[in-house]
Amino acid sequence: MDGTAPGRQHEATKPAAKSALGPRGRGLFGRLFDGLRGAPAVRREALSIAIASGKGGTGKSFLATSLAVLLHRQGVRSVLVDCDFGLACDHLLLGVKPTLTLQNLLAGQCTLDQALVTSPCGPRLLPGASGVRRMANPTDKDLLGFARELGTLAAREDVLLLDLGAGIAPATVLTMLAADWIVLVTQPEIAALVDAYAVVKCVAQSNPRARVLVVCNRVATPGRGELAFQRLTEVAKAHVGLELRFLGEIPDDDAVMQHRLGQLPLVASMPEAATPQVLASLAQRLDAQCGGLRPREVAGDQGLEARFRQHRLFV
Ligand SMILES: Nc1ncnc2c1ncn2[C@@H]1O[C@H](COP(=O)(O)OP(=O)(O)O)[C@@H](O)[C@H]1O
Ligand SMILES: [Mg+2]
Repeated sequence: MDGTAPGRQHEATKPAAKSALGPRGRGLFGRLFDGLRGAPAVRREALSIAIASGKGGTGKSFLATSLAVLLHRQGVRSVLVDCDFGLACDHLLLGVKPTLTLQNLLAGQCTLDQALVTSPCGPRLLPGASGVRRMANPTDKDLLGFARELGTLAAREDVLLLDLGAGIAPATVLTMLAADWIVLVTQPEIAALVDAYAVVKCVAQSNPRARVLVVCNRVATPGRGELAFQRLTEVAKAHVGLELRFLGEIPDDDAVMQHRLGQLPLVASMPEAATPQVLASLAQRLDAQCGGLRPREVAGDQGLEARFRQHRLFV
């Protein structure tokens, strides 16, 4: 499978239809139609992966920061974007103290490059704002600015990891709908599974072909995570017709809880330990599922920013 989303193949490869108009007429009408279609020239864009959950605290940021480190170590040119509007924490998990955040960027107080930080163990981060009420409730102008910055990043990176806030706030759902892939992080307990289903339902209403990979985190008994996934995918298939794919389960591990501020992520400080090894194989499966963690070609009017803007009209 390649990384191109179904239904997103561009029109550029279609042979030009014969026209009764002369060359001048064809030129004029061609330009008019190109203008209406937004002249979809093909370009390269980062593969975008949204890390989402229904319930809070399922381990999205733990997974997102771990993947950011693993991708960086594999030499994948990637940026982690902390999209948990108002309650961002990826900078803490990566051991950086940013002075500028997404909030400053959207307020026009800095440039994208000024807001981007490189964390001590390598991955680059676009930090989010924490404890800023205005960011918890982004305006339409904020959303459009956010879409534009995502588009700019996508045009120059290979992979974007988008660490979302929990739940189905409009900005969160929009980011999920705009991304190429959704990694839904849940836990093997009923409250987390019910909320995960709520996310699936919400996404499927706007995009019945959304590509959702499920991770079951904090699994105490091996195999329980996959069993929980089976129940979730059966319900999702029966009620909203969306087939989910299982990406893997992560053990409940005290070492994750004991992580202290300022320490490097577990995958960097203890790469040989059991949970970092599980995360490394999960990153490999993500690579396989996505058809390679690398950029793909999209038509100019079908990229990340355009999808965000299109869905904004309906969410
Ligand atoms: N596999 C795990 N084992 C033990 N604790 C975990 C695990 N994954 C996450 N946690 C803990 O759960 C809490 C919430 O994780 P976090 O990644 O911040 O969740 P989210 O971003 O979904 O809100 C943190 O205290 C984290 O240390
Ligand atoms: Mg988080």
